[in-house]
Amino acid sequence: MSEPAPEAVLVLDEVRKTFGATAALTSGGITVEAGSIHALVGENGAGKSTLVKIVAGVHRRDGGTFRFQGRDVDFTSTADAKAAGIAVIYQEPTLFPDLSVAENLFMGRQPRKSAHRIDRAAMYEHSELLFQRLGVHLDPRRFARGLSIADQQIIEIAKAISLDTALLIMDEPTAALSGVEVDRLFAVARALRDEGRALVFISHRFEEIFALCDTVTVMRDGAYVATQAVAETSRDEIVAQMVGREVAELFPKTPAPIGDTVLRVEGLHSTGKFHDVSFEVRAGEIVGIAGLVGAGRSEIARAVFGVDGYDSGSVHLHGEAVPMRDPQASIKAGMAFVPEDRRLQGLVTESSIARNIASVLRRGLARAGFLSPRSELRAADAWAQRLQVKTHALDMPATTMSGGNQQKVVLAKWLATEPSLLIVDEPTRGIDVGTKAEVHRLLSDLAGQGMAVVMISSELAEVLGMADRVLVVCEGRITADIDRDRATPETVMRAATQTHRPEAGA
Ligand SMILES: Nc1ncnc2c1ncn2[C@@H]1O[C@H](COP(=O)(O)OP(=O)(O)OP(=O)(O)O)[C@@H](O)[C@H]1O
Ligand SMILES: [Mg+2]
Repeated sequence: MSEPAPEAVLVLDEVRKTFGATAALTSGGITVEAGSIHALVGENGAGKSTLVKIVAGVHRRDGGTFRFQGRDVDFTSTADAKAAGIAVIYQEPTLFPDLSVAENLFMGRQPRKSAHRIDRAAMYEHSELLFQRLGVHLDPRRFARGLSIADQQIIEIAKAISLDTALLIMDEPTAALSGVEVDRLFAVARALRDEGRALVFISHRFEEIFALCDTVTVMRDGAYVATQAVAETSRDEIVAQMVGREVAELFPKTPAPIGDTVLRVEGLHSTGKFHDVSFEVRAGEIVGIAGLVGAGRSEIARAVFGVDGYDSGSVHLHGEAVPMRDPQASIKAGMAFVPEDRRLQGLVTESSIARNIASVLRRGLARAGFLSPRSELRAADAWAQRLQVKTHALDMPATTMSGGNQQKVVLAKWLATEPSLLIVDEPTRGIDVGTKAEVHRLLSDLAGQGMAVVMISSELAEVLGMADRVLVVCEGRITADIDRDRATPETVMRAATQTHRPEAGA
């Protein structure tokens, strides 16, 4: 790398880090200037989060240069990094569920009244001011338990911006956010930049990088590849640097013959969550569910699959009633559900990758009774390869995988059950550009083979590219059912923001 400019806040060069047999970083590097927003991009497993964790004091590097504000540093704890003026928003929120929102925000630095008494009023007021700045409505007094991922991420963001930091690193902060929330986060990020702070932004969404960042550094296979001004590069150039080949970002669904009704949902109602939800999904059809974060899309999916209950209404699969709140029965009947929060609901992270992929398969085949470790590995392997899960061994614990690769394992595990109805909540969240098209192709192929697919996605381009029909959810109601030919960003967004009055057709 060339000589760093004198004012660079952060300089990493030829940084190495291995975990056992895995070389996570062979030559990681980035140079971040004050008053700029710097994108860090690379495929799943490229080493981005590992680099960030070295800066944050979570991991110590094995070798290479690490300079912060003109000094050589070597943090041995996250407290070191924090004290030096570095804040990090991690890929996975790390809140304490049994503490209040405000306590999570001010963990370890609560405002005090006298002696040791915590000044709760001041804490709540500070929290509210922070949320105002982010333009969100969150009650600082409520427990963190049960908050949506988007809300958890907002608390992490509020926590990071409330610290007086010289460097703010955001590792895929927008993965759980959509639309308005992303815009607000960007406004705050720009304000911090204009105050002269340095920001690092990791994302797999190119439109965000081009909208927000000044500079972009690309990593591949644990090594630094290139740094460029965002204004002087293009998506294609970045992608080529990331993967060393040309890739299409989206794979449009290929037309498939539409068969009989597979799923019929009638008048589903759950007080405070969703109301009068009715729709059908037929074999070979991909039905997209669009809407703003918090509109109730995931809640509907969870009720249909049986993770949550509902107050009234019914769910039928192939004409048979599906019992309420009985996921095992749903799996037996042929349903699969890839949830939004993979870490909590989808992945048994301590057990091996092969076991994770095979676990659902095993449950589905309960009558066969037993899956030998060999057939387990075989089943896992086929899907892991198809989704390009990047690991050295399938018998590694899933916790050590990169964020995007964990997503792929969860997807693989459910696909291995060969369901007749697949419900996927944010199927490509956190998945890199190279594999995204592969996931789309896979969903399209599965529909082509007669599977019925329900796909919830906050990415409009993904919904418009993949769905035969788009259901739009707003405030817990289906406000539109739009055919592929008539689905445009405008028709979908209009319905997504159309509060109250449900409307047939669109
Ligand atoms: N604690 C660990 N133990 C073993 N291997 C690890 C550990 N942490 C990371 N790795 C490995 O290091 C490599 C880089 O992972 P990292 O999480 O840095 O990727 P990433 O670029 O952030 O990917 P993503 O876009 O999927 O989040 C991966 O192969 C991962 O499996
Ligand atoms: Mg990562």
